[in-house]
Amino acid sequence: MKDYIHKEFPKSCDPNDFFGQVKRTVNGKPVGKEQINIIIDSICKGLDLNKQDVLFDLGCGNGALSVLIFHKIKAYFGIDFSEYLIEIAKKNFEKGNYTFQCAEANEFLSKEALNKKYTKGLCYGVFSYFEKESAERILRNIHDKYENINKFYIGNIPDRERASNFFYKDIEYANLLDDNQSSLGIWWSQKDFENLANKTGWKVEFLNMQDDFYSAHYRFDVVLTKKVN
Ligand SMILES: C[S@@+](CC[C@H](N)C(=O)[O-])C[C@H]1O[C@@H](n2cnc3c(N)ncnc32)[C@H](O)[C@@H]1O
Repeated sequence: MKDYIHKEFPKSCDPNDFFGQVKRTVNGKPVGKEQINIIIDSICKGLDLNKQDVLFDLGCGNGALSVLIFHKIKAYFGIDFSEYLIEIAKKNFEKGNYTFQCAEANEFLSKEALNKKYTKGLCYGVFSYFEKESAERILRNIHDKYENINKFYIGNIPDRERASNFFYKDIEYANLLDDNQSSLGIWWSQKDFENLANKTGWKVEFLNMQDDFYSAHYRFDVVLTKKVN
């Protein structure tokens, strides 16, 4: 199922339907530009991006979201485990210091050495697809290995407390909430997410997306900052 959603489904979309490929859709139609701008504004503000920043993007998909941030930062490196989406990212959006690589998040981070290169981190619409143990290792590795990442934006996390806002009333959804291979992945409560973040060295700020954002009623975003020891 996981491979289908992220690796096979995108191949069934038009090669230029960038937001359809990563299922940024409402009723099957790609969301509009104004919705994408809300995401970009929130990321830029949450990360306080500037021209000195080198951004590490975990689960970058086809790069169609990331490319809208390139003009704000000095350099960018995105990874994603879908070969097809990375091929699209490279073909359409890679240039100079803004690059993409195909890699699985946990495997990639486990092999990383201490590194001072990146100054900010992003993980948009991806976190719920990590198994819980894997999510913990990922947060810990980014905290410990990427010395200069002090702000890490994690976006579009399905909110367990508001799952009933998303599912139709007659759907029995309880068994889907802990399944990272379901179509929306694991639904985190803010409390559990905060515990996970704290345990791995991060402080959490929860962001409220504006009401007219298409998934504001069932998802939340966070900005993590490193706890001072
Ligand atoms: C909804 S898309 C979001 C893509 C991009 N961040 C964006 O917002 O447009 C989720 C992405 O997570 C990637 N992904 C899921 N699990 C992953 C993993 N374990 N390692 C790397 N990428 C993963 C998928 O391939 C997919 O591109």
